[in-house]
Amino acid sequence: MNFQFTEEQLMIKETARKFAVEELAPRASERDEKEEFPHEEIKKLAELGFMGMMVSENYGGAGLDTISYVLAMEEISKVDASVGVIMSVNNSLVCWPIETYGTEEQKLKYLPRLARGELLGAFCLSEPEAGSDASNQRTTAVRDGDFYILNGTKNFITNGVYANILIVFAQTDREKGSKGISAFIVEKDFQGVIVTKKEKKLGIRSSDTAQIVFEDCKVPVVNRLGEEGMGFKIAMTTLNGGRIGIAAQALGIAQASLEASIKYAKERKTFGKFLAEHQAIQFKIADMATKIEAARLLTLLAAWKKDRGGKYVKEASMAKLLASQVAVECALEAVQIHGGYGYIKDFPVERYLRDSKITEIYEGTSEIQRIIIARELLEMKV
Ligand code: CAA
Repeated sequence: MNFQFTEEQLMIKETARKFAVEELAPRASERDEKEEFPHEEIKKLAELGFMGMMVSENYGGAGLDTISYVLAMEEISKVDASVGVIMSVNNSLVCWPIETYGTEEQKLKYLPRLARGELLGAFCLSEPEAGSDASNQRTTAVRDGDFYILNGTKNFITNGVYANILIVFAQTDREKGSKGISAFIVEKDFQGVIVTKKEKKLGIRSSDTAQIVFEDCKVPVVNRLGEEGMGFKIAMTTLNGGRIGIAAQALGIAQASLEASIKYAKERKTFGKFLAEHQAIQFKIADMATKIEAARLLTLLAAWKKDRGGKYVKEASMAKLLASQVAVECALEAVQIHGGYGYIKDFPVERYLRDSKITEIYEGTSEIQRIIIARELLEMKV
């Protein structure tokens, strides 16, 4: 067993850390407050190759491994979890399925521009009646000559307002249930794509979350991703990798909570001594650090397995389950350690708490992760 990162992986981590501190930190809280999308920051992130980190160099990506992706995601999310999710969706949920399931023409057309940050992607699976129950798709795609006509509503779409490229799932044959779902690469400019609502959120407020309606949207057959009926498999396998990215995002929030707590504990005095000298605070800090390290190892294990080309479904779900729980727990403890100052916006820990919660919800709730883990262990269908 080798716990050594390669020089390249360490260089990526350092690049991400430096970028986050220099470019994201100064306005992270302000963007959150104003619900302002980080357009300029995402452009700069793309210049570093971080919007297409795992896309192979043939298609204009950085050709990096999943471990590098995890290291970068943690560093970015430690400073701004909104930027973390924007980056995660583009890398894991848009570039990955296009590279894995796309035709050569689709890869050449979309991947270089997605990796360069000229295009932004979104993943349109969830619907008003299909969240955890993802196969209960109501959106339809009806073949009409060289086109499919899409009709339906997609909910909670990260990057939905600003994305140019949407991976959309729709029923092509309702009779066949999950095997009747197909995937499409839809350009936002296609007629009949309407952003109907931008959500107001508790956390990750500078990333946008939208409702998108497809109204007789004409999608060329050449934009179908994979064969007809493969859509659900594409969605599920895509989310397996996505969950590693969200685990890394959660780790970033947890680590930020720990670092803020350590700093505050060394500055603030109560009862004549620093918080750091009180055993009650020391125990909290020890527990936070221990949980974070466990979640980090599990996340890296999932990434390592993915990079080796083996099965990683169980480890990805375990990593997301644990890291998201640790993020919420650490953020809560950070607020507690800061006392009243933790509850106001003078310190960033209230943002960490608000940002942490979503990691237990999106890309499969904690309950869904437990279902997947149990199914893998028991070799059962849900
Ligand atoms: N990996 C690979 N294949 C999978 C899979 C996985 N994790 N989960 C299911 N499948 C396959 C099954 O093997 C099965 O294939 P076969 O028919 O060939 O055997 C097929 O998919 C159907 O499986 P199920 O019958 O088990 O499907 P189900 O309808 O019972 O649902 C579920 C299973 C795991 C609960 C699934 O619905 C699920 O993952 N739900 C959560 C959805 C989710 O994560 N949504 C996130 C939205 S996107 C988002 O959040 C992005 C963002 O904004 C940041």
